[in-house]
Amino acid sequence: MMSIRELDVLLEEIEIDNVRIRNRFVRSATHEWLAAEDGTISHEIMGIYERLAENHIGLIISGYSHVTKCGKSSRAQQGIWDDIMISGYYQVAETVRRFESAFFIQIAHGGRHGLITEDCPQSMAPSSVPLPGSNAMPKEMSSGEIDSVIDDFARATERAAKAKVDGVQIHCAHGYLLSSFLSPYTNRREDDWGGDTERRTRIVVEILRRSRKLAPGLAIAVKMNAWDGVEGGIDKREAVRIARILDSEGISAIEVSGGIEDAPHEITCTEDIDSEDKEAYFREHSRAIKEAVDCPVILVGGNRSIVNMSRMISEGYADLVALSRPLIREPDLISKFMSGDARTASCISCNGCFDETGIKCNIKRD
Ligand SMILES: Cc1cc2nc3c(=O)[nH]c(=O)nc-3n(C[C@H](O)[C@H](O)[C@H](O)COP(=O)(O)O)c2cc1C
Repeated sequence: MMSIRELDVLLEEIEIDNVRIRNRFVRSATHEWLAAEDGTISHEIMGIYERLAENHIGLIISGYSHVTKCGKSSRAQQGIWDDIMISGYYQVAETVRRFESAFFIQIAHGGRHGLITEDCPQSMAPSSVPLPGSNAMPKEMSSGEIDSVIDDFARATERAAKAKVDGVQIHCAHGYLLSSFLSPYTNRREDDWGGDTERRTRIVVEILRRSRKLAPGLAIAVKMNAWDGVEGGIDKREAVRIARILDSEGISAIEVSGGIEDAPHEITCTEDIDSEDKEAYFREHSRAIKEAVDCPVILVGGNRSIVNMSRMISEGYADLVALSRPLIREPDLISKFMSGDARTASCISCNGCFDETGIKCNIKRD
């Protein structure tokens, strides 16, 4: 039985930089496959964010939004690479603000996950390491291309500021471009952009510095892998080193995740979370990072029950908890908690919501 105190911990306000987050619940970035043809926000996406805001999500993070035309990695993905994309986000920010939710845009580049099209025939990565099972060999980026991607991220952040959103989250997780720079498994460079932790992290540091100049005062967070799940990839100790660098550079918050496609089993979206022990599967990684940094830490992955989420905050594993799949099935989950219904999220973590026709829970309701 949930006690009032357990929910109280999760309903406490917190600040990310100067952004007031009204509680500890975050909607983790979730691609919807619902952007308009030109990459702008569609009515359907707007509806999803509005519903989350009216159901008390403290911070909503958009689906990954590509920062350059060829940084796209999925069909019907929203972008932030052109000024025509500003007004859709402006409307989202205005809408969710009415319900006192904060809104961050997740900014991303696909890297080795880049969609190969006629206009974008070649994916790019720190080193030419192909995705498992793919014939497409990503091009090792030149220093000029790295500089230009840094600029793309900074310009995207500037657009986010023009859209008057509360912040951006730089996507450095799950094997996309910046994640593959951070990881020694995919970054095999021996120049200024690879080698030791500092050099692998440098691209993110440069993005942060350049973005701060173009968008002073905007909250700039990251989502990063604390465990890649492959031999020679990022592990907890390496993640702590990366997090320390980003924290010393003034990052606004760190969301802790994990997993790349090369891992032998699914890590990012672990399946079958059917017991409390399986919840919050990056909790030890999150705690190690939280102990090493000053900025707020957001824990994602398998947050399902109020008892466990509350424990994550009160026992010092994280400052906020993020959810993705449970909110696809139950966008009103937090409202239910607040009305006294303390049942664990009914999401069975099957990953059936990865639906290219538009995200939805494809499990029949009770
Ligand atoms: C349909 C779907 C789309 C996702 N899209 C993104 C995304 O755009 N960016 C991102 O960082 N993570 C994305 N994720 C991962 C989630 O943010 C989250 O890290 C993961 O699902 C684990 O949390 P959960 O157990 O609460 O679902 C996606 C997950 C799902 C299920």
